Amino acid sequence: MRGLASLVQVLLLLLAAVAGYEHYRLPEVIEPQHYELSVLTHLEDAAELRFEGLVRISLRILEPTKNITLHAKNLSIAQQDIRLSDKDNAYAISRVQIIDKYDYFIMHLANVVPSGEDYELSIPFSGELNSNTTGYYWSSYNDTVTNETRYLAVTQFSPTFARLAFPCFDEPALKATFQVKLGLHKSFTGISNTPLIECKLHEQLIDYNWCTYEPLLRTSTYLVGYAVHNLSSTGVQYSKNSLRTRFSSWLQPQLTKEAQFLINFAPQALSYLENLLQYDFPLRKVDQLVVPTHKFTAMENWGMTTFNQARMLHNDAEQPLQEKQSKASTVAHEYAHQWFGNLVTMHWWSDLWLKEGPSTYFAYLTLDALMPAWKFGEYTIAKQLQHFFKRDALNETRAIWREVAQPAEILEQFGDYVYEKGALTMRMLHKLLGEQQFFKGIRAYIAQNVYKSVGQAELWRIMQESSDLGVDLTEIMNSWTLQHGYPLVTVTRDYATGSVSINQTRFWLQPAEYESSNCWWIPLSFVLQSRPQFEQTQAQLWLKCPQAALLDISLPQRALPTEWLLLNPQVSSIYRVNYDANNWRLLIKALKSSANFGGIHALNRAQLMDDLFALAATNAQSYELAFSLLEYLPRERELLPWSTVLALLESLQQLLPVEQSTQFKHFMQQLLTPLLARCHKLNDAALSQLSSQQLELHRLAYAQACRYGLAACQEQTQLVSANDELMQLPVELRGVVYCSLIEQGNELQFEQLLQRFQQSSQVGQQRLWASALGCSRNHTQLLQFLDYLLQASKATTSSCYLQAVTSALRHQYAAVPATNHILQHALELDNKFSPAQIKQLLLSTIGNLHSEADKATLQQQLKGIKKFEQPLQLALETRAVHQDWLLQRSENMLQALAKYI
Ligand SMILES: *[C@@H]1O[C@H](CO)[C@@H](O)[C@H](O)[C@H]1NC(C)=O
Ligand SMILES: *[C@@H]1O[C@H](CO)[C@@H](O)[C@H](O)[C@H]1NC(C)=O
Ligand SMILES: *[C@@H]1O[C@H](CO)[C@@H](O)[C@H](O)[C@H]1NC(C)=O
Ligand SMILES: *[C@@H]1O[C@H](CO)[C@@H](O)[C@H](O)[C@H]1NC(C)=O
Ligand SMILES: *[C@@H]1O[C@H](CO)[C@@H](O)[C@H](O)[C@H]1NC(C)=O
Ligand SMILES: *[C@@H]1O[C@H](CO)[C@@H](O)[C@H](O)[C@H]1NC(C)=O
Ligand SMILES: *[C@@H]1O[C@H](CO)[C@@H](O)[C@H](O)[C@H]1NC(C)=O
Ligand SMILES: *[C@@H]1O[C@H](CO)[C@@H](O)[C@H](O)[C@H]1NC(C)=O
Ligand SMILES: [Zn+2]
Repeated sequence: MRGLASLVQVLLLLLAAVAGYEHYRLPEVIEPQHYELSVLTHLEDAAELRFEGLVRISLRILEPTKNITLHAKNLSIAQQDIRLSDKDNAYAISRVQIIDKYDYFIMHLANVVPSGEDYELSIPFSGELNSNTTGYYWSSYNDTVTNETRYLAVTQFSPTFARLAFPCFDEPALKATFQVKLGLHKSFTGISNTPLIECKLHEQLIDYNWCTYEPLLRTSTYLVGYAVHNLSSTGVQYSKNSLRTRFSSWLQPQLTKEAQFLINFAPQALSYLENLLQYDFPLRKVDQLVVPTHKFTAMENWGMTTFNQARMLHNDAEQPLQEKQSKASTVAHEYAHQWFGNLVTMHWWSDLWLKEGPSTYFAYLTLDALMPAWKFGEYTIAKQLQHFFKRDALNETRAIWREVAQPAEILEQFGDYVYEKGALTMRMLHKLLGEQQFFKGIRAYIAQNVYKSVGQAELWRIMQESSDLGVDLTEIMNSWTLQHGYPLVTVTRDYATGSVSINQTRFWLQPAEYESSNCWWIPLSFVLQSRPQFEQTQAQLWLKCPQAALLDISLPQRALPTEWLLLNPQVSSIYRVNYDANNWRLLIKALKSSANFGGIHALNRAQLMDDLFALAATNAQSYELAFSLLEYLPRERELLPWSTVLALLESLQQLLPVEQSTQFKHFMQQLLTPLLARCHKLNDAALSQLSSQQLELHRLAYAQACRYGLAACQEQTQLVSANDELMQLPVELRGVVYCSLIEQGNELQFEQLLQRFQQSSQVGQQRLWASALGCSRNHTQLLQFLDYLLQASKATTSSCYLQAVTSALRHQYAAVPATNHILQHALELDNKFSPAQIKQLLLSTIGNLHSEADKATLQQQLKGIKKFEQPLQLALETRAVHQDWLLQRSENMLQALAKYI
């Protein structure tokens, strides 16, 4: 019997070895409860930046098992030093197996281990500090006092990099408590998620300490953080939240002034959010670490947020207010994560939007509450809507909820589509449920799920419970989060009966090629001219899914044949609307002649233009109708509609070949002349008193007017061309003036500005000048400058390539050489810039590649260059849409436009 038994065992072993464990999720038989993590960091020798550590994990084993599988990547671990024990026994490890594909580290046990509570697994490990901003990585800076290079070590664990720093169960749902102990030379400071308890001398290493931090509440591995550094602590502040959380900010001392905004704003954002969400922030301290290098803009580690120095510091005198606003929004976003993500965590990375969407949206709410004069939320929503509607009209898009497995796929989830559509989806929920029910639901969602992990279904469940919605919220919201794209809703009125017919279809920019049967649950709320209530955003009716159409339905309020009807007030839901031609004319008439535009909300005024131009591009309406809508613009005073229409006209212009663009230019000059005439002159002191919205409108007006060569604009810029006059201008307008001066100027003026660029050490200033130098009409000069930037050894200088080349791409006279420069240097750019930056560059070049030969060259040149290849399909699809438009629609557009010039 015995012999037989062992034969069976051998067979089983063989089977296991052959079958292996081929799944990207860890086996569900083990749960970590608590980690005790000790890490000793060596920073004293720049040639040997490394760490060694010991992790002791308390485990619960749910089912008898013969292996322990966890994550570890690029760590040295000696099998003989690993220990597994419970109170009574030690369990021998027979073999260690590594599966690179999933970063698995598998410890096969000599015998089956029974299920139980009190196991302890202890693993010593060591590794080199990473140089590429992931895991436990090193960074450096020059100490301005001693002139020495300083090294520091800091963690970036999100999404899947904790496994590079210590062996762990690196999945967000496997939450545990953590206690960190850092070993470090006494000349350094150590910080972690929680307050320091004490430091003791290292038992052997001279001048080294062991510092122990308080245990951290149950959390996911990606939120753990620690750092060893010589940065200075500055501006300690206490937040007004219930625990009076102590905020310390760590940075190079000479940067204090530029970090002041971050230092002041963070505790305010935290206490505002605590009030709004009505769940107390549970930590007594927060350390904010401003690091010289960072994989992202910022990271929300619990109690230890990290910020990218280059992207977060701010200098009011040199950088536009818009940049400050977006930095403030990042700060608020990170602190919103303390609830959305840190307290309530998504179960798996497929649900990433569940932390990024709400954090992005709640950051807008925070800014609107704390900085009301900025009106940041609405303006940002308007820009995001325009971006979303354009991008999600292509085939190359994804649902925000998406199956993800490999680390590379997980990282890809952090694309703007998840943040942006995630935020728009949260806003939709807010507008749909109304103020009271939305916050009731959100608060319940947090209170009921703290220290747990959830999927989006849980959010829908609780929001449903908290509302009196008569429809199934899960079904509704799944139709928006589980599929890509968005619907076009078509409204046809029967003017005799007052009834309407409504149907939906997916909106494609290229309708012929892709048919789809997608449908959405669409909330319908109507506004009538006689009752222009744009605050009423709750659904009056639903267009269901599937449902072919609503035919001849009567509205809650009957529409008179002479009044306009509008669907989707405030664009609270993310769909486009088409109306019958008569209703469009009624809307246009009101915009052109009614006082206050008939009460039509600024977001809708912007959206009407965006929709109608998209409909004209796809031949669902005519360009005659679209341009007649623009006739109302001379009356428009607000930023939102102008910024939308100027962006959409600029992208139209960029589609036109040079030969056809003269007419367009004349049209734009006519459109911009009255707008510019209403703006303050550039030497008018009143400019510095403008609200941030009006200042942005001035910037847009001047930038576009100069770009289209309006003499009135160029005269203005000449007026302030002397340096001290220029420095009097609000910084927002300085860039426009520099660009126009360089465009009109000669070689000498270029050289002068170039010199100032080279001598400046202020990043904000450098970006502004790089952007201006990119406006040069002299190709030789431009290309020399681009080469110079790419070759610059200083990272802040070479990153100005983006500003310079983007400027050039926006000017017809420089777009082709700039495009060629990008494609010829693709390999270098691939090394220097992030995937998002490369994607943006590629998409901006695509409009300049018209011929089939260009397309072939493009594919050839970019072969094997990773960050370019990834968005290549999207770029090619965009290009195909452009080509199609040129063939099918550009003539109609030019004819319609001809009437106005
Ligand atoms: C480890 O154990 C789990 C659960 O018992 C099992 O599903 C998995 O296949 C094992 N892994 C290997 C590589 O044998
Ligand atoms: C892995 O670590 C070794 C030394 O610990 C290092 O030389 C190597 O560059 C690391 N590999 C990667 C991909 O970071
Ligand atoms: C950074 O290094 C880690 C391993 O050390 C590796 O897994 C990762 O792919 C690297 N990332 C980049 C962007 O090179
Ligand atoms: C520090 O200064 C040295 C010499 O002045 C320079 O070569 C190096 O690039 C600087 N390092 C950083 C991180 O700025
Ligand atoms: C710092 O180093 C740079 C270049 O290595 C040198 O030009 C400068 O004089 C040094 N400054 C001080 C204060 O030592
Ligand atoms: C649209 O995208 C899907 C998957 O992303 C792809 O399989 C399909 O071929 C695309 N359709 C066209 C016409 O390119
Ligand atoms: C929707 O209604 C419009 C107007 O009646 C019609 O032209 C269109 O074909 C309909 N679309 C669908 C998908 O039924
Ligand atoms: C363009 O710039 C180059 C290099 O500075 C210069 O040699 C050339 O004369 C300039 N061309 C014109 C037309 O100004
Ligand atoms: Zn985030």
